[in-house]
Amino acid sequence: MGKPSVLSGIQPTADSFHIGNYFGALRQWVQMQDTHDCFYTVVDLHAITSEFDPKILKKRTLTSFAQLLAVGIDSLKSTLFVQSQVPQHAQLAWVLSCFTGFGEAGRMTQFKDKTQKGGQERSSVGLFTYPILQAADILLYQAQSVPVGEDQRQHLELTRDLAIRFNNQFGKTFVVPEAFIVKESAKILDLQDPTAKMSKSSPQGCVFILDEPDVVMKKFKTALTDSGKEIKYDPTNKPGISNLLSIIKAVTNEDMTTIESQFVNKGYGDLKIYTGELVVEKIIKPFREKTMTLLADENQLNSLMNDGAQKAEKVAAATLKSVYEKVGF
Ligand code: TRP
Repeated sequence: MGKPSVLSGIQPTADSFHIGNYFGALRQWVQMQDTHDCFYTVVDLHAITSEFDPKILKKRTLTSFAQLLAVGIDSLKSTLFVQSQVPQHAQLAWVLSCFTGFGEAGRMTQFKDKTQKGGQERSSVGLFTYPILQAADILLYQAQSVPVGEDQRQHLELTRDLAIRFNNQFGKTFVVPEAFIVKESAKILDLQDPTAKMSKSSPQGCVFILDEPDVVMKKFKTALTDSGKEIKYDPTNKPGISNLLSIIKAVTNEDMTTIESQFVNKGYGDLKIYTGELVVEKIIKPFREKTMTLLADENQLNSLMNDGAQKAEKVAAATLKSVYEKVGF
């Protein structure tokens, strides 16, 4: 019996991943490598569904790939690859799009949210069919489990529906995947607005893995805190303090009461500095340095990308072949 298989993807749409990405997703990716047969992909095809710049995209794809290696994705244990380098993704997406209802695709809430700003007239058809491409990513590798955030639940439901529909019509072709929704408890909030999830769109409240250590310290020192002065985990009344305590917990894995007990008779300022230094030492310094070292040798990175794409393509090609035969190509 082989290990159960897993696939997940991340978009190269930022210059750096942030600690919310790490604690909310990437750390689970790393851990699953011991128990699962893992496929992890930098989804650059998805990254062109909204406005983009080719040079920046290329750089971000490379940096994303390097950061995944830096945080602990092991290219020998797992299959780590760039989506556009495996042509079967686009090929399967086309076939699946012919099995997706127009209305069905139109019900995807992420599309509706993303078009709210610019309006449908200015949104691409690629943005509309984005979830079908995501389904192709997953189904090509016969993934049983897909670690994603809560916001991706509906896309996973569509993926399952498409797999079941295709299997019913043509016989068992795809594994029907399960969403593996990463626990809320690991959710890191914006340092400037601790009611919102940490996000690259609010850079002052967002701690990027590639931030310089002194920039990180400054972000922690200016983190928004709450009224009162007691340091206690109370997300409703003390969202700012609770977010800092959650970050400590994410790093050290201690009980909340143990963490709180270290701050009796200490002030908010002490907590901010403690959290900042902890994040710098345990996360930023090691991951940043490793990423920089990897980026310094672009040939080596390109060769890792090629190896990953070849490994992925072996699996993807077998699935696509059976799909093509079944539909009469
Ligand atoms: N849509 C996902 C996100 O924005 C990224 C993604 C693309 C993905 N393909 C995937 C996630 C396949 C899991 C599996 O987070």
